[in-house]
Amino acid sequence: MPMVDLHLHLLPGVDDGCKTMDETIAMAKTLVSLGFGTVAPSPHNRPEYASREECLARLDEVRAALASSGIALALDVNAENFFLDETLLSALPTPESRRVGTAGKYLLVEAPYTSPLPQLTDVIFRMKLKGVTPLIAHPERCLEFEKKGRAAEVVQAGALLQLDIGALIGRYGKTAQKLGRQFLEQGLYAVAATDLHSPVGAEAWVSQSLEALGKLAGAKAASQLTEANPGRVLAGQPLA
Ligand SMILES: [Fe+2]
Repeated sequence: MPMVDLHLHLLPGVDDGCKTMDETIAMAKTLVSLGFGTVAPSPHNRPEYASREECLARLDEVRAALASSGIALALDVNAENFFLDETLLSALPTPESRRVGTAGKYLLVEAPYTSPLPQLTDVIFRMKLKGVTPLIAHPERCLEFEKKGRAAEVVQAGALLQLDIGALIGRYGKTAQKLGRQFLEQGLYAVAATDLHSPVGAEAWVSQSLEALGKLAGAKAASQLTEANPGRVLAGQPLA
């Protein structure tokens, strides 16, 4: 089954990801060669970056460019939302809130890297009340998740955790690597993603990371994290 990536910055000129359509095409080719069949590009939803409307327009442009280049990579709508933004919560679940896929049952959110987030479980509760499940991006890179037992508590509260696979090979430092491996071993991740920002060097580090994932988690769990689970999240289905 082809892999599904729910966290990557593929759209050109909308955030700190791909800068040009050429970079986008190069990244898409790399993803296909690594075995991805569907991706939901997740531009940062922050005031300094492109709006939802601009991102939707860019998504259509990329779809057309991929089709004309014969690159078989399906695209769906998504965004990487910033956790502490109250407008994020108040927008749920209107169409203006930028959820995962057209099904819109999940919301990709990033926690701050260096500040604590004591209100995290409360925010998860409030999102769930609105019928939306938060998918928390790269917890292994965030201070809040360095607290012992916090990741398990957050999963217990009903959120899903997304691993940045590069953490497993040390791309984000020793702490993220240690936490990533630990959460993986504890079975706390629902989804693994690339969080690709650039095509430069991507083929090498993404394939190394996928290999590390397979070794650490085993082939069955690795395929669940890269194929079945992200596919279900995209389709708005509960995880098996
Ligand atoms: Fe990201």
